[in-house]
Amino acid sequence: MLRLENLDKQYPTGDRAVKGVNLTIPEGQVLALIGPSGAGKSTLIRCINRLVEPTSGHIWLDTQDLTRLNTAALRRARRKIGMIFQEYALVERLTVMENVLSGQLGYVNFWQSWFRKFPQSTIDEAFRLLHRVGLDSFADKRADALSGGQRQRVGIARALLQNPNLLLVDEPTASLDPKTSRQIMRLITELARERDLSVIINIHDVPLAQMFAQRIVGLRMGEVVYDGPTDGLTPDVLTQIYGEEDWTTDADSDADSEDADEAAATKTPMTSTLSDVIPGVTS
Ligand SMILES: Nc1ncnc2c1ncn2[C@@H]1O[C@H](COP(=O)(O)OP(=O)(O)OP(=O)(O)O)[C@@H](O)[C@H]1O
Ligand SMILES: [Mg+2]
Repeated sequence: MLRLENLDKQYPTGDRAVKGVNLTIPEGQVLALIGPSGAGKSTLIRCINRLVEPTSGHIWLDTQDLTRLNTAALRRARRKIGMIFQEYALVERLTVMENVLSGQLGYVNFWQSWFRKFPQSTIDEAFRLLHRVGLDSFADKRADALSGGQRQRVGIARALLQNPNLLLVDEPTASLDPKTSRQIMRLITELARERDLSVIINIHDVPLAQMFAQRIVGLRMGEVVYDGPTDGLTPDVLTQIYGEEDWTTDADSDADSEDADEAAATKTPMTSTLSDVIPGVTS
């Protein structure tokens, strides 16, 4: 179980991206975190494994307060937290298998990982995971030869090789076509069920969130403004989360695209590297 208690993040720039968030996520629950660009979704999930250092509050993973851990204890705790990114964060010149195994670099000792020697049991598990994500015949392919959907499957297998009990997923489908997006969401949610994982998925695609998550949390300007079932996203609730818009028609409204452009222009881009996934390792 994951419990966020009065979680707050203020960046040195003064931006208070997360404001007193309280959330409890039971084991096996898939939670979709939605909200406009700049709402603080990425900041929130990055606070959980302290890729972004929270300003105040507590993060309980089972009985451990992650905000109180020293470097060594944090490294151990992070093994229980898998991360999946929009941009996959694969090492392009390495093979699929090497990328999946890199999820274990926190486990094997430095010299073993330096020579890329992994225990046979880990390699067997990596093959099982590649089979599970539908990439049996891809183990020896280089990551840069894969499509977006295939890359995301590698990212999923890598995250799961750590055998985490919590999965943090940041816009896993943002670069994918609609069908691949559904397949990836289905895969993530099936694996969560099989392994009884708690999952937080940041996602802009509201129908996709409703289709695959069990619970929706709407974030606006760092605050939770909706927390409830997937069918509770009425036009009023969507307005609370995203701002004024006619949610009952499909036609494009030009008013809001300006807001979105502005948000994108003022936002500091968040990039992901292998060292985000496995702290201490550079890609
Ligand atoms: N490294 C940073 N330094 C300063 N401010 C930041 C940093 N990263 C994010 N912010 C600010 O924090 C706020 C929340 O950003 P965040 O990236 O968490 O939003 P988001 O909901 O993930 O947006 P998007 O949907 O566009 O990914 C924004 O105002 C953003 O400009
Ligand atoms: Mg984000």
